[in-house]
Amino acid sequence: MSSNPTATAVACANIAFIKYWGNRDSALRLPVNGSISMNLEGLVTRTTVSFQPSLPFDELVINGREVTGLGLERVSTILNLIREMAGIQERAEVITENNFPSGAGIASSASAFAALALAGSRAAGLKLTEPELSRLARRGSGSAARSIPGGFVEWQAGTGDEDSFAFSIAAPEHWELADCVAIVSASHKKTGSTEGHALAPTSPLQEARVADAPRRLDLCRRAILERDFAALASIVELDSDMMHAVMMTSSPALHYWQPASLSVMQAVRQWRGEGLPVCYTVDAGPNVHVLCPKAEAAGVEKKLREIGGVVDVLKAGVGGAAKIVNGD
Ligand code: PMV
Repeated sequence: MSSNPTATAVACANIAFIKYWGNRDSALRLPVNGSISMNLEGLVTRTTVSFQPSLPFDELVINGREVTGLGLERVSTILNLIREMAGIQERAEVITENNFPSGAGIASSASAFAALALAGSRAAGLKLTEPELSRLARRGSGSAARSIPGGFVEWQAGTGDEDSFAFSIAAPEHWELADCVAIVSASHKKTGSTEGHALAPTSPLQEARVADAPRRLDLCRRAILERDFAALASIVELDSDMMHAVMMTSSPALHYWQPASLSVMQAVRQWRGEGLPVCYTVDAGPNVHVLCPKAEAAGVEKKLREIGGVVDVLKAGVGGAAKIVNGD
């Protein structure tokens, strides 16, 4: 055990260009296909973990509110893995803050479990490698595996727990892209992704989506490495539409799009037809992530705000790796 049992870490949210949807092992969160994402600069979770001999149970505080039940259980699962690796028994206090607006529909589980894996392991006196941290974050939320490395990141499906981790395929400086997130609804809670992954195999389209994933991963990886926006746009939109086709055809069906989501997607396609480098991708919610070169972001934001039903737009550049901010 380290002499300093407290550590604070910061991790970015990420947006998937090639989506993760469906597990082949849900306890280990081993995905049916690899995925590629971009970290979102400035949309971060900051988490402090301190192991305290006096605590009878783990404690979790998110944005100033104590959380119990399933939320705490999910965090304790990661803390248990850390305790096992470090050979310690102490319970921990976990204090976590997201800097992005709550209810904006930006998934916080990726940044949250990446920050927890890093802060928790460091507070327990462990110095894990990047692949080890990525594997640990994956156990809390699959997409969190991708919030450990920096910039443009690929999570390889792997053959098992040991090799299912994410790594950087290009640094943040490699390509100045921006994500303009069109917020169309901050309302009611939809089916969460953990439940959604379990429904994926009930869609007759999932098998085709998964079989074609290596081809989409190759095209996406190449588009990033060559900074080819047109190639990126077509594969990112295809991949998002394929995931939503699976969602809409699972039993029960998951419909995440709202009328305004579709308005944004149609506008983006029209703008691209007119020569603007822009494309869309949508996660398990109604908000539309609109990608473009950073130089176009202010103009894209302005156009998005003119679309009926768009209530806000968040902008983010390419973010770095998860990092310790004290407790080193
Ligand atoms: O990490 P999870 O279990 O929240 O799953 C994320 C699922 C999507 O956001 C829809 C796609 C992805 O790859 O991030």
